[in-house]
Amino acid sequence: MESKVTVRTIAEAKRRGRRIAMVTCYDATFGRLVDESGIDIVLVGDSLGMVIQGLPNTLPVTLDEVVYHCRAVARGVRRAHLVGDMPFGSYQASPEDALRSAVRMLKEGGVEAVKLEGGVEMAETVRRLVAVGIPVMGHVGLTPQSVHAMGGFRVQGRDEDSAGRIVDGARALQEAGAYSIVLEGMPTDVAARVTASLPIPTIGIGAGPSCDGQVLVLHDLLGLPGDFSPRFVRRYEELGLRTRAALAKYVDDVRRGDFPSKEESYQSADAAPAPKPDDKDTPPRYGPQ
Ligand code: KIV
Repeated sequence: MESKVTVRTIAEAKRRGRRIAMVTCYDATFGRLVDESGIDIVLVGDSLGMVIQGLPNTLPVTLDEVVYHCRAVARGVRRAHLVGDMPFGSYQASPEDALRSAVRMLKEGGVEAVKLEGGVEMAETVRRLVAVGIPVMGHVGLTPQSVHAMGGFRVQGRDEDSAGRIVDGARALQEAGAYSIVLEGMPTDVAARVTASLPIPTIGIGAGPSCDGQVLVLHDLLGLPGDFSPRFVRRYEELGLRTRAALAKYVDDVRRGDFPSKEESYQSADAAPAPKPDDKDTPPRYGPQ
């Protein structure tokens, strides 16, 4: 195993000019796969509301649900740095409320840091969490939890006022102790300004190539959602098409009586197979061996 990625590794990456790769994840199976890919940061995003639950936005996602998914992902991730997204309503009321929620994310969810959305208005909350030893990742620009205030999922920072709010917000989060900041949905030059002005890493999504790292939603980069492919997503696979084809073949095999074969069935005369030697890489199985 390569060495464990921590907040120190993340800070060091910016100092050395090494780009950071981050991806979202929502379960233990993909947790193991993304961890083995060499990814630096795994985010249990509140995007789970849209990706897993089929909701139109992230607002209904609850703290209990995020904690549940964090716990699952934490069972698969060993090496990467694991971050949990604070859902809408779990941190905005007060820094004390945020602290209670963040403590649950670490204690019950097993994450190593939390992410929250917002700029200047979140600085006091970030300071409170950081003061008790909870690493905080900020998130500015297109902040999906403000979808109604933004009038939809719209690129931010296109005029000087809005760009200024992003720059000021990112600065306030860094001064409050955030160790990195997600820059979402903004013009490349605004993300470049923020990145050049901060000593902590920026991680972009729909924010161009100048950020210190990039993040994508796992299901988007694997091509799982049907036609959803906005400009900022690169699809590295077409797992949606491949999954549908595999399932259609399975349905056909069942209907033709081709599955299961004799080799895939138990016979009463079969001797029980000898147990395998203790092999830590053998994944857990759910049926008789
Ligand atoms: O919830 C999420 O997946 C996110 C990333 C897109 C940054 O916040």
